[in-house]
Amino acid sequence: MPVIPRSGVCAMTLPPRPELSSAQQTLQWMTRPYGFLEECAATLGETFALDFRGYGVGVIFSSPEAIQEVLGGDPEVFWAGAGNGILKPFLGENSLLLLEGERHRRERKLLMPSFGRGRVQAYGELIHRVTQEICREWAFDAPFAVRPSMQKVAFRLIIEMVFGPERTERRQRLSRAFAAVLDDELFNLALLSQRAGGEAAGARWAQFVGQLDELSALIYEEIDERRTEDQQARGDILAVLLEARDEEGQPMLREEIHDEVLTLMATGHESTATALAWGIYWLLSSPQVYARARREMLALGEACTGGQIAQSAYLEAVVKEILRLTPVIPVIARQVQREVKVGGYTLEPGMVAMPAIYLAHRRAEVFEEPERFWPERFLDRTYRSHQFLPFGGGVRRCIGARLAMYEMKIVLGTLLRNVDLELAGERALRPVRRLVTIAPSGGTQVVRRRESALCESP
Ligand code: HEM
Repeated sequence: MPVIPRSGVCAMTLPPRPELSSAQQTLQWMTRPYGFLEECAATLGETFALDFRGYGVGVIFSSPEAIQEVLGGDPEVFWAGAGNGILKPFLGENSLLLLEGERHRRERKLLMPSFGRGRVQAYGELIHRVTQEICREWAFDAPFAVRPSMQKVAFRLIIEMVFGPERTERRQRLSRAFAAVLDDELFNLALLSQRAGGEAAGARWAQFVGQLDELSALIYEEIDERRTEDQQARGDILAVLLEARDEEGQPMLREEIHDEVLTLMATGHESTATALAWGIYWLLSSPQVYARARREMLALGEACTGGQIAQSAYLEAVVKEILRLTPVIPVIARQVQREVKVGGYTLEPGMVAMPAIYLAHRRAEVFEEPERFWPERFLDRTYRSHQFLPFGGGVRRCIGARLAMYEMKIVLGTLLRNVDLELAGERALRPVRRLVTIAPSGGTQVVRRRESALCESP
C-alpha cells in the first residue's frame, strides 16, 4: 500500500497515513476492518492517521502506553459521546452512549447498580435455562448459522433482565417491534447517519420511524405501568432505574429511563451474540481447547447450575482469548476537545484519538504467538487494562462487561455440556461488519451431531 511519508515526530505533525482518498479509506474500513488495520500497521507503524469520510481525521493508536494516555486522560478533553451522535435518532438524546461530562457521570452512577456482582450472578440460572431451551431446538445433521441462535439467546436474556420474567402480550409485541427495528436495513449505521441528516428522507424512512415510534410507545407503556408498582420485590433493571436517586435525591426522568432502557436493549445483546458466534468458531476449530473445555464442563456432573459453570477458570480464559483475537468492537474513539499530546503527536481539537483494541491485542511483545488461539495464556498471567481491553477503558469502559463475561461463560459452557457441534461450510471465517460489530462471515455455520454427551432435560 502506498504511504504518505512520515516527516518526523514533532508537534503539529500528523502520523503517516495511507495514500488513499478519504472515500477509499472509509470503504476499506467499512468492508474489511481487521485486514485494513493490519495492513496499515504493517506499512505505517503502530500509530497512523485515517481520514474517515464525514467523520474527520482519526489517529489510530496501538501501543499500550499511548492507549493508556487516551483512556486514562481527562474525560473533559477526550469525549466519547461525540462519535456516537449518529445513534441519537435511535437511542434518544439521554442515552449513556451520547452523554459527556457531569451528565454522563450522573447517569452512569444511576445505572451501575444494575451491573453489580450480585445482580449479575442472579442471572446465572436464567442464562443457563434459556441456552438449554434454544439449543434443544437445533436439528441434527443439517448445517445452520449459529449467530442468529446466539442473538435469540442474548435477546431473550436482555428483555427479561430489563423488564422481568412476565411473558405478557405487550412484552411480546415489544420484542417483535425491537427485532423489526434491528432487522431493518435502515438500522445500518451508515444509512442511519445519512438519513438523520435528512439527506434522503423517503417512504422507507417514514416506515422505519414508524417502527421506532411503536417501540418507544411500548417502552413508555411499560415504564408508566411499572411506576405504580412496588419495585422492592423485583430484580430487573427497570426496577433499579425507577428506584434510582441522584446525589440531590432526584429520580430519573421518564425520558431518561426510556432512552437508557433502549440503550441497554441495543448494546446488551448485539455485541454478546457476535462474540458468542466467534467463540463457537474458535472452540470448534481448536480441538485441544475444545476437548479440555468440554472435559471440565462434563466433570461438573449431571445437575449443575449456571453459577457453577461460570466458576470455571479455564472457561474464563477461553472467553478472554475469544475477545482478544476477535474483539467485536475493534476500535474505540475519543474526540479531542483541546490541543493535547498523545504518543508524541499533537492532536488538535476535533480530531479523534482511536485506541485500536484489535492491534493492541496482537502485539507480540505482550502476547506470545499473538495469532494463536491459546486460552492458557490467561491462566498463566494477567494483563494490564491498556494491554487487554475488549471492553474499552477509563470512565467509558463497557458498563455491561461483567454481565457479558458471565453470559458468555454460561452460554458456551451450557453448549459444551449439551450439544456436539462441528464446523460446516467455510473453515476460515472472514470478519464482516454487522451494525457496530465485526462478526464472523456466514454467522458461523455448524452442524449438530447426534452423539450428545450429557442431556439435562428434566
Ligand atoms: C461481549 C460483549 C460486549 C462487548 C465486547 C462490549 C464492548 C464495549 C465497548 C468496546 C464499549 C466502548 C468502551 C469505550 O469507549 O471505552 C462498550 C460500551 C458500552 N457497553 Fe458494551 N460490550 C459488550 C456487552 C455489553 C452488554 C451486555 C451491555 C449491557 C447490558 C453493554 C452496554 C454498554 C454500554 C451502555 C456502553 C456505553 C458506556 C459509556 O459510554 O459509559 N455492553 N461496550
